[in-house]
Amino acid sequence: MGFSTDAIHAGNAPDPRTGAVAVPIYQTSTYVQEALGKHKGFEYARTQNPTRAALEENVAVLEGGAGARAFASGMAAITAVSTFVKAGEHVVCSNLTYGGTYRYYTKIQARQGVEFSFVDTSDPEEVRKAFRPNTRLLHLETPTNPMMTLCDIALLSEMAHGKGALVVVDNTFASPFLQNPLALGADLVVHSTTKFLNGHSDSVGGVAVAKSPEHVEWLAFVQNSSGAILSPFDSWLVLRGIKTLAVRMERHESNGRAIAAHLARHPGVRKLYYPGLPDHPQHELAKKQMRGFGAMISFDLGSYDAAAACLARVKLCSLGESLGGVETLISHPATMTHGSIPEQERQKLGITPGLVRISVGIEDVEDLIADLDMALAAAA
Ligand SMILES: Cc1ncc(COP(=O)(O)O)c(C=O)c1O
Repeated sequence: MGFSTDAIHAGNAPDPRTGAVAVPIYQTSTYVQEALGKHKGFEYARTQNPTRAALEENVAVLEGGAGARAFASGMAAITAVSTFVKAGEHVVCSNLTYGGTYRYYTKIQARQGVEFSFVDTSDPEEVRKAFRPNTRLLHLETPTNPMMTLCDIALLSEMAHGKGALVVVDNTFASPFLQNPLALGADLVVHSTTKFLNGHSDSVGGVAVAKSPEHVEWLAFVQNSSGAILSPFDSWLVLRGIKTLAVRMERHESNGRAIAAHLARHPGVRKLYYPGLPDHPQHELAKKQMRGFGAMISFDLGSYDAAAACLARVKLCSLGESLGGVETLISHPATMTHGSIPEQERQKLGITPGLVRISVGIEDVEDLIADLDMALAAAA
């Protein structure tokens, strides 16, 4: 089926008891069993929940995986995937990943004896050099947060497989509407469903999808054993959000393109990072591996003061962390999402004090442009 049809119907079978068209919220902790060893496939709600199972089936179809497991947050999904790696093994990771991923890997996983190399994954040679005999996982994020750098999923997956490593792609920024990493060769996909999948800034969650049934089985084991499950209500919210993912993404995308083109001409904007612009270093790769360029844009206003003035003046764009909601959110990566990265490291990566990130919503684009023009008047 086409993407929109799957988004609406996959996992969303009418309720067998009542015919309810929307999957019910099964708000229960346990299930009555008919007799010893005789039940309907549901024993305890950490292990199985029909609302969560519907969402998992839906996302597995949209990403082309053998199955998916939903977690309490995007970080919980990343934590679950990290269990594919044991003490003494090594992970190669994008150096421009979400700050929370970097924090989890360096402050928690590293303490458990896992080794890490953070490299520029837009440069295949850098990645090739980073592999060690004990490398077990290549963690990619494309486009990256917040510099909108891309990496070549197909090329790097082939390279990783040649070295005996699995590949996970954090597909949060693109969503399955714009990019399917498993079809390009990756083994695993993670999403913070908090973002585009739910799309309404009213739920925190995550999902991990695997291409092979054995990896799905392991994710299910980890989900049940460590217990960071997505609640029935959040599962329902995300399932509902996904029904409109295609139409929302089309609007996010067209608004994103218009705002990027506008900001690129603005005299106050020193640098603009958006894969949809022809001068973006990976514009050709974006055209090849994505079905659009998304709604995430970063721009550098040259100084902390200019960024702070812009963020203080916006009225329609809301200052806040997170992204992917219907409302436009604007943020300051250096002090917000990427505050946990040491300053020297941030500077090297281009996360300067003047950098502003915008998650373009689905409002009328003329209103968004007017708001940004007003906020940037001081920076011009
Ligand atoms: C790309 C990316 N991955 C993962 C996460 C973590 O997700 P969550 O906040 O749902 O734990 C985020 C959060 O901002 C993110 O932007």
